[in-house]
Amino acid sequence: MSVNDAKSAPADPTAAEAVAGNGLEYRVIDTADAAVFDPYLQAEMRGFLAGEQSDQQLGGMRDGLSFRRFVGIYDPASLDPAQPVGTVNSWVADLSLPGRRGLPMWAISGVTVAPTHRRRGIARAMLEGELRTAAAAGVAIAGLTVSEATIYGRFGFAPATYATDWSIETKRAVWIGPRPDGRLDFIDRARLRDELPALHDRVRADRPGEIAVWPGLWRRMAGLAPGQEGGDKLRAVRYADRAGATRGLAVYRLGDEDSDFTKHELHLQYLLTETDDAYASLWRFALEHDLVSTVKAQLRSVDEPLRWMIADQRSTKVETGEHGWLRILDVPAVLGARSYPVAGSFRLRVEDPLGFADGTWMLAVDASGSASVSASEGTPDARLSVNALSSLVLGGVRASTLRAAGMVTADEATVQRLDAVFASAQVPYLSVWY
Ligand SMILES: CC(C)(COP(=O)(O)OP(=O)(O)OC[C@H]1O[C@@H](n2cnc3c(N)ncnc32)[C@H](O)[C@@H]1OP(=O)(O)O)[C@@H](O)C(=O)NCCC(=O)NCCS
Repeated sequence: MSVNDAKSAPADPTAAEAVAGNGLEYRVIDTADAAVFDPYLQAEMRGFLAGEQSDQQLGGMRDGLSFRRFVGIYDPASLDPAQPVGTVNSWVADLSLPGRRGLPMWAISGVTVAPTHRRRGIARAMLEGELRTAAAAGVAIAGLTVSEATIYGRFGFAPATYATDWSIETKRAVWIGPRPDGRLDFIDRARLRDELPALHDRVRADRPGEIAVWPGLWRRMAGLAPGQEGGDKLRAVRYADRAGATRGLAVYRLGDEDSDFTKHELHLQYLLTETDDAYASLWRFALEHDLVSTVKAQLRSVDEPLRWMIADQRSTKVETGEHGWLRILDVPAVLGARSYPVAGSFRLRVEDPLGFADGTWMLAVDASGSASVSASEGTPDARLSVNALSSLVLGGVRASTLRAAGMVTADEATVQRLDAVFASAQVPYLSVWY
């Protein structure tokens, strides 16, 4: 199987056996068969508390998502046995690593269990099944974004990128940043959908934590998914440099004002920029938009230059939260795939109750920043869980922080070397939900 093709991975027999004990069936579904896929999608959407989907919406989802592998847990005794009681889907997406490197990642999404069947081990069977399937397919790392931060640690996942949500009072903020000489133009949403992929591909190469995005998400980002509510409220703006090349795209919607027409909220739905000029110009556009008193933006980086482009940093409220979760499956493949800013070597004892990453590993980084990793014996320099290593791998979380939190055991000198070797020049950042 090509690692780019999760769909052809077979059903996991261990997970099938685990749910069979409860009279349930584990199936990899045929997404080409709408009679199977539609009830599946209805069950998944119900799991995320959405209403019943229209035929138009289902058609859009079939079209946008059928590249993925969909697993359903079915209850033959149910009144509607065509609707699964558990759902999970997965695909292989390129994950950006420090040093402009990339690695195929087993992306997991759509994890739901019907409230009628909760807390019987269905999610556990599905998730462990995903990890075994990914490992068997030769994919070295799994990733997901989460609805609740309390679910996935037990499966070895841990936060590797953080994100910020912003609320900015425009009157107080006052733009003091650069005023670049490129130009801004409104573009229609079809053009936005068509321009986002290439810009994102260029930007993500240099952003550890970002993943390759599937076309259906760009369509939704542009408000063009079939039956998508509120799509027509989105506006898109492009920043082009002096040569006319697209360097930044922003999509936003204006919220309703109460009674005062000068107090609209501008919701920056997505802002993607390739250059400092595009970044400054599009933020300034949002903050100086007439009739707007508040700008809100979600999923921004933890290190936004915007702070330094406004006169009053206290005009902002910023909330930080974990966002991109990773789970290492193959330690040599993952640690060997990124590059490192300085040389160093460590013997790491990694604990993984599910076995995939468990072992003692020698990580040797040479002066060029390339690593070789091999199984090793002898006294480790540091002990840590697979969760802790998964948090460290992008360089956005420091070993010394995890040591203070009791998650890494090592002496002071080792932890300082770990901080230096695992650091990333670019702040890890994932700009989408998946
Ligand atoms: C979250 C959800 C998938 C859990 O499904 P489930 O089949 O009830 O979970 P399981 O019975 O397999 O439980 C597995 C473990 O996770 C724990 N767990 C399950 N849901 C949890 C939650 N919401 N918070 C904390 N722990 C949770 C269980 O206690 C159990 O722990 P243990 O095995 O270590 O003792 C399900 O409640 C659901 O569909 N929720 C709504 C949709 C959602 O939030 N999906 C997650 C998308 S990121």
